[in-house]
Amino acid sequence: MNFKKTILCIGAGYVGGPTMAMIAYKCPQYKVTVVDINPERIARWNSDDLPIYEPGLDEIVKTVRGRNLFFNTDIEKGIKESEIIFVSVNTPTKTYGTGAGMAADLQYWEKTARQIRESAESHKIVVEKSTLPVKTALAMERILTSMNNGIRFDVLSNPEFLAEGSAVKDLEDPDRILIGSRETPEGLKARDELVEIYANWVSEERIITSNIWSSELSKLVSNAFLAQRISSINSISALCEKTDADITEVSRAVGMDSRVGNKFLNAGIGFGGSCFKKDILNLVYICRFQGLDEMADYWEGVVKINDYQKERFILNMLSAMFNTLAGKRICLFGFAFKANTGDTRESPAILIAGRLVEEKADLIITDPQALKNAMTALSDINGQINYVEDPYDAAAGCDAIAVMTDWDMYAGLDFEKIYKSMTKPAFIFDGRNILDHEKLFEIGFNVYPIGKPALTHF
Ligand code: NAD
Ligand code: UGA
Repeated sequence: MNFKKTILCIGAGYVGGPTMAMIAYKCPQYKVTVVDINPERIARWNSDDLPIYEPGLDEIVKTVRGRNLFFNTDIEKGIKESEIIFVSVNTPTKTYGTGAGMAADLQYWEKTARQIRESAESHKIVVEKSTLPVKTALAMERILTSMNNGIRFDVLSNPEFLAEGSAVKDLEDPDRILIGSRETPEGLKARDELVEIYANWVSEERIITSNIWSSELSKLVSNAFLAQRISSINSISALCEKTDADITEVSRAVGMDSRVGNKFLNAGIGFGGSCFKKDILNLVYICRFQGLDEMADYWEGVVKINDYQKERFILNMLSAMFNTLAGKRICLFGFAFKANTGDTRESPAILIAGRLVEEKADLIITDPQALKNAMTALSDINGQINYVEDPYDAAAGCDAIAVMTDWDMYAGLDFEKIYKSMTKPAFIFDGRNILDHEKLFEIGFNVYPIGKPALTHF
């Protein structure tokens, strides 16, 4: 079949896979290929057991795979054959050298740029899909044009705003699509080509364009603002616990101001996920680099409050359970960094599990999707942990349950049955405020929510 456009995506991860599946689904006239250096990942994209769990993704991939969506490892061929190349490789926090623990590690990104340069035989539009420090496009352009071989490259910034667990919905009905370009005739022409792709299913007023640096920076700032809201509400949850105020009530009252809005105001054990922390630290690093220390300190505070919230949760557990957790069985309900995903990257549960093992507690972890990733994340301490799929079996014989992930299914469990199977006194620490605390208290549990008075029988 003759396709109208050939699109390549380098990086078949949480972003590359679902994003390209959606483009292929909405645009049968385009051929979309996703490549990766990791052959196992590609094999799973070509199987019935996709490498990531996202509600609704299996159906879409099944519809388009082999029709106009293809997964393979032949990066060179993919580059040669495509007109538009999205790059969605990982950009983790640097762990070495200058900027270690703060700056973005751009090695995967730069390797990709060099590979595009070496394999390209004709004009390419290269789209930054990964989240990158502001001004990365300049480095990209310099690398791409360094061979002086007459091949034209136009670099665009098109950051991705999907959230895990709702990726399909976010891609299908995005709040906005942002496309940054050079404001030259060629840059604007490339931008219009990308606009045309999204216009297949996204309405015109939601496709916004800007200069390329604003686009790169807007992505970092969007994540920083979202994370800042969570740290703001979590900081207030600590004060609520000291003053008998209730964080849910405060959050409702504050969020009903239409200027503030009610989303992202749920207090909990802190934000996780592969991006918030890394992107804020990246912003902090850029500020320091530019000599803007006050600004850097301000944003760094968001991460500090997040760490404080996790530590506070552990200290509350310790103090509620008579200042010793040694030999006590503690069941973690959930391990994913949020509901509806199997992803455990930067999950607050990782630190909490590690701290509980340090306190010599016996740990049981249950999660409907994330057990495999949990085992990998905790490989250093796996000897002290049991992984149990069924939440009833997991809780049986435990002294305490600690809710780590806001899976809907936990609110629907039969807690009378769970209570009967547990050691007494039985404790519940609801790190996500998703359970019916009054009811649990009536059943007999000692209940410790986040940011509200504890309900105890002592
Ligand atoms: P990921 O780790 O899941 O996937 C990245 C993939 O790139 C991996 O499969 C890796 O093997 C591949 N890769 C690395 N170097 C390569 C190379 N030289 N050639 C080919 N493939 C290569 O990462 P992700 O979660 O998809 O994130 C990718 C980018 O998107 C990051 O910059 C991230 O900040 C951003 N982002 C992520 C999300 C999210 O929800 N995960 C949302 C928005 C933006
Ligand atoms: C986040 C952003 O929401 C996306 O827009 C962005 O594209 C993405 O990061 C990225 O750049 O990677 P994600 O991390 O997948 O998406 O998930 P979120 O829904 O933002 O949740 C992040 C963390 O915050 C989770 O641990 C969640 O439990 C926590 N959270 C969220 C709260 O503690 N309280 C809230 O009110 C909301």
